[in-house]
Amino acid sequence: MQTIRNASLNAPRVSLSVTVRLPVRAPTAARSISSSTPASLFRNSLRPVVHDEAQSDQRQSRTLRMLMFGKPGAGKGTLSSRLVKKYDIVSISTGDLLRMHIQERTEVGRIAEEIVAQGGLVPDELMLQVVTSKLDLIPNKHWIVDGFPRTLAQGELLNAHLSKQHTPLSLVINLDVPDEVILSRISDRWVHLPSGRVYNLSYNRPKVEGFDDETGEPLTKRPDDNPEIFARRLEKFYSTTSPLLDLYTRLSQTRVSPPPHRHPHQHPHQLAFHTKPAHRLILESLSGRTSDEIWPKLEKAVKDNFPGLKERTESADVRRRHSLSDAIAADSLRAGMSPK
Ligand code: AP5
Ligand code: MG
Repeated sequence: MQTIRNASLNAPRVSLSVTVRLPVRAPTAARSISSSTPASLFRNSLRPVVHDEAQSDQRQSRTLRMLMFGKPGAGKGTLSSRLVKKYDIVSISTGDLLRMHIQERTEVGRIAEEIVAQGGLVPDELMLQVVTSKLDLIPNKHWIVDGFPRTLAQGELLNAHLSKQHTPLSLVINLDVPDEVILSRISDRWVHLPSGRVYNLSYNRPKVEGFDDETGEPLTKRPDDNPEIFARRLEKFYSTTSPLLDLYTRLSQTRVSPPPHRHPHQHPHQLAFHTKPAHRLILESLSGRTSDEIWPKLEKAVKDNFPGLKERTESADVRRRHSLSDAIAADSLRAGMSPK
């Protein structure tokens, strides 16, 4: 398994050469055409086959750069870890990162502590820095971000950052869960702070009550999970975070062309060609009250749009440290350092 930290050391090198993918063999329809066949028929029979192949190539090689979007308590953390456990994806939760910073008394933690405790929002620029300092380490990995962006300004900042790197978002999942369902869940939620693993006494119980399944360490209640603060977080979601859905609806209707490919020795005035088809953000809203309803829909949305995603094959021991939070917590504890 590759942690984010390790990813910075082992990150696959960016290849300078680009392969232009063309069908190796002419499609059957084209090969069987005789010299007497009218040219227009040839063109019409060839086009859909080539188009399909290009589309399927594009889907196979598509990188998952996903936002898990939804109200507090919608299940963003729970569902992200399910995906990460099964597929070769790295997850980043801004809530988990902030809780780690707070626990380790870093500069970011000192700024965030009171804001998080009151159910407010940490300043946009600081959050951008917290997230992108991690994302920039994994340019070629499949990733999920949970909890960011949370304001329109954060959404714009993230877009600008990703566009600069030519790594635009590819999927936004909006978890649409009714408020009354969420409120009943929160009172039953327990967390393992160092890893961000989430349990629920009615839906996802730990094997031993009060203790983390993987480490055996004690579980705690989040201080911002009391009813008064939770109501404030929900209110903030409606006033400040939900308008982001309009932004992603707009982006999902706009095609973005990838940068044209230039050969390293190519003269700047020589023509450069687009070797990849235009990209479009996929936005899907998944509604449901239980995991049985949402998980299959989520897995389908991810598998259908990113068929190249690989399932994990590592041992349970290795699988344990898949989330970014796990990796950072473990590294920090070992080195006696704070999360960066
Ligand atoms: P954060 O930790 O991100 O909190 P949140 O968005 O309010 O979301 P939660 O973690 O509470 O819920 P979740 O959707 O992950 O649900 P979960 O899987 O746990 O942020 C905390 C604070 O940090 C913020 O308030 C803010 O102050 C600050 N912050 C973070 N990011 C920021 C940003 N970008 N900008 C500014 N400030 C920021 O599930 C909830 C419960 O339901 C669990 O008990 C779970 O077991 C259960 N459950 C989950 N799914 C199901 C299901 N399908 N069926 C039944 N039960 C389920
Ligand atoms: Mg969460």
